[in-house]
Amino acid sequence: MSVPGGGQRTSLHGFWSSRLAFILAVTGSAVGLGNIWKFPYMTGEYGGSAFVLVYLGAVLLVGLPIMMSEILIGRRGRRNPVTTMRLLGQEESGSSQWQWVGALGIMGGFLILSFYGVIAGWTVAYVFEAARGAFAGAGAAEIDARFSALEGSALRTGFWHTLFMLLTILIVARGVERGLEQAVRVMVPGLLVIMVVLLVYAAGTGAFGQAAEFMFRPDFSALDGTVILAALGQAFFSLSIGMACVMAYGAYLPQDASIGRTSLAVVAADTSIALLAGMVIFPIVFANGLDPADGIGLVFKTLPIAFGSMGGGVLIGMLFFLLLSFAALTSAISLMEPTVAWVMESRGVNRGVAATIVGVLIWLLGFATVFSFNLLQDFRFLRGTLFANIDFLTSNIMLPLGGLLVTLFAGWFMSSNSTSGELDPQAGTGYQLWRILVRWVTPAAVIIVFLNSIGLLDLA
Ligand code: PHE
Repeated sequence: MSVPGGGQRTSLHGFWSSRLAFILAVTGSAVGLGNIWKFPYMTGEYGGSAFVLVYLGAVLLVGLPIMMSEILIGRRGRRNPVTTMRLLGQEESGSSQWQWVGALGIMGGFLILSFYGVIAGWTVAYVFEAARGAFAGAGAAEIDARFSALEGSALRTGFWHTLFMLLTILIVARGVERGLEQAVRVMVPGLLVIMVVLLVYAAGTGAFGQAAEFMFRPDFSALDGTVILAALGQAFFSLSIGMACVMAYGAYLPQDASIGRTSLAVVAADTSIALLAGMVIFPIVFANGLDPADGIGLVFKTLPIAFGSMGGGVLIGMLFFLLLSFAALTSAISLMEPTVAWVMESRGVNRGVAATIVGVLIWLLGFATVFSFNLLQDFRFLRGTLFANIDFLTSNIMLPLGGLLVTLFAGWFMSSNSTSGELDPQAGTGYQLWRILVRWVTPAAVIIVFLNSIGLLDLA
């Protein structure tokens, strides 16, 4: 049942200036550390191609339909995710309890940003390392030692984390459009160009074929419930879905923009950059006898080897870490946006105040991650360090759960009138396909992966 008011609400915080601005903003959110830092080390840790192939399946069958659902819900609700889910919940299903989906997203963004800021801090630190020629001529062992020194110092890691969070707060305080659009316009093409330069370097290492095999030659011997859940979680993390972030951005999307095409463009860009990162990093891993399963330091221990031995490496290395820091910044902004919009709307404070309060709390919580690599590195429970637990809880539980609820809501509780009104009703078969995915395929896939990973079902 559709309510006449639906689709007619207007945004409280302004609009994106165009469809392109929105695509850029969502791409800026999606492309970040998830593609270049997390995807390669997860691929290495979880057995290569098994992880990559499940990941690609998850992106198409789960990621894309959920991204479309989040955007359409966001645009229809036009409020912060909590209020949007409450309003639409009432309109479409008579229950305001759907607001908890928004609340779950807000908590997810809060927790993710707390560790995201720390890793992003390292990328900023590496801009300076590269600039002062620290990698020039350095071998794998020296580069490894440099990273360990940074990671092992609570003071240095804490300092860069603080700097990065300050930048994030400043930008969020200034508003949704200004600056973001320009940053993404430069960053995504810039990153692509440097990745291609690095790809040429990787092709010359002699281990390119080995890397391609590792990533793409189907080998499911490593496949088990943990790998499948990790790949699903990574798809959510990398696409920025399941935590209402794309929903918050959708609230500022003009009514006439096509949600399907926008989502496709973002998913394609995000996935290409992740695969490129893998194809750059693994040849360096194999050519230097490094361990693909080395863990979270992988990107910081491999790429500097390339920068240290290629012509123009100082400049290219500096530019690379600078662009990666920007990519992380545009993601960090989106991680804060749902919470900030919610604080503004529910407490009636302005953007600057909301961004400062939220940012300072996230910064403080970030020290749980800062200390996970040094002072508290031996403090382990469940999944390992504090960082490992926050990472597992968010990527592997909260995001898939949030996404599952979003797809159930869009597929089963929203009327086809409302959803087809938001998606392009002219795109007849596209709409039907989306609806089959959100009603059946996507929720079934997430539920099966959950059941499998807790051992209630035996897939692999
Ligand atoms: N997608 C971002 C990345 O890959 C991280 C992110 C996750 C941003 C969830 C927003 C929401 O770096």
